[in-house]
Amino acid sequence: MTSPRPATGAGVGLRLPHLAEVAAARPAVAWLEIHPENFIANPHAAELLDEIAAHYPISVHTVGVSIGSVGGVDREHLLRVRALIDRIDPFSVSGHLAWSTHEGDYLNDLLPLPYDEETLALLVRHVDEVQQGLGRPYLVENPSSYFGFGASTMTEVEFLSELVAKSGCRLLCDVSNVHVSSHNMGYDARAYIDGLPADAIGELHLGGFTVEDDGDSGATVLVDTHSDRIADPAWELYAYALGRFGPRPTLIEWDNELPPFATLINEAARADQVARGVFGRKVRHAAAG
Ligand SMILES: [Fe+2]
Repeated sequence: MTSPRPATGAGVGLRLPHLAEVAAARPAVAWLEIHPENFIANPHAAELLDEIAAHYPISVHTVGVSIGSVGGVDREHLLRVRALIDRIDPFSVSGHLAWSTHEGDYLNDLLPLPYDEETLALLVRHVDEVQQGLGRPYLVENPSSYFGFGASTMTEVEFLSELVAKSGCRLLCDVSNVHVSSHNMGYDARAYIDGLPADAIGELHLGGFTVEDDGDSGATVLVDTHSDRIADPAWELYAYALGRFGPRPTLIEWDNELPPFATLINEAARADQVARGVFGRKVRHAAAG
């Protein structure tokens, strides 16, 4: 099966509670993003996905391919993801710059990595293995950060740029993660966007976050919860990122406290409106390629 291409404009996540509704009503949205892990062991959901993929471009975002694990990439899982993407032929396949498995156990969180030469060499090997295993380029996503490693010898932007140069991977820039991390870590979000290799950016993410008190200090910490509408500072940074990168497919990322599907579509319409403000009415987002 081949999904329609290319993906243009803003897309939304297709989560299991919306699956039957989307299969039956086929709401108007430019494209859909899926987590393959939701479908691999669920034959009924996989059947509905096959139907849906005949009508929408699909982006596949893995949460179980742990490129940062010292123990290596789970090849069995990679084979299962490969079988799924061979069926639905997505326009983009991505995952996180993080590790989420340890000695065969899946951890509930995406855990951070120190940015040094040793980690870089490990990730170059693992990204190469993933790209060989999947038979297509892999987009690596910038994480949301809450603390740094003393052992890091590179900034995150330098690390991602080196990873692109050495592995041939592409990047998924989560604009909300840049906003969240820049607040928590005290760096300039626009300088971060300016430093990324624009040609390597294949997709953008926008997600809601929550503001929490950081102990007694009076400071706040932003937590990447994917449980709310996109906040104004993230919309502003999104417009800046589009100006820097050019048009890119953009996902509204909302995974927790899932709203009605129509709310997701409204957020996607707002992303398209921001893009029209940046590029003018006639220009729509380009395909990830
Ligand atoms: Fe994201």
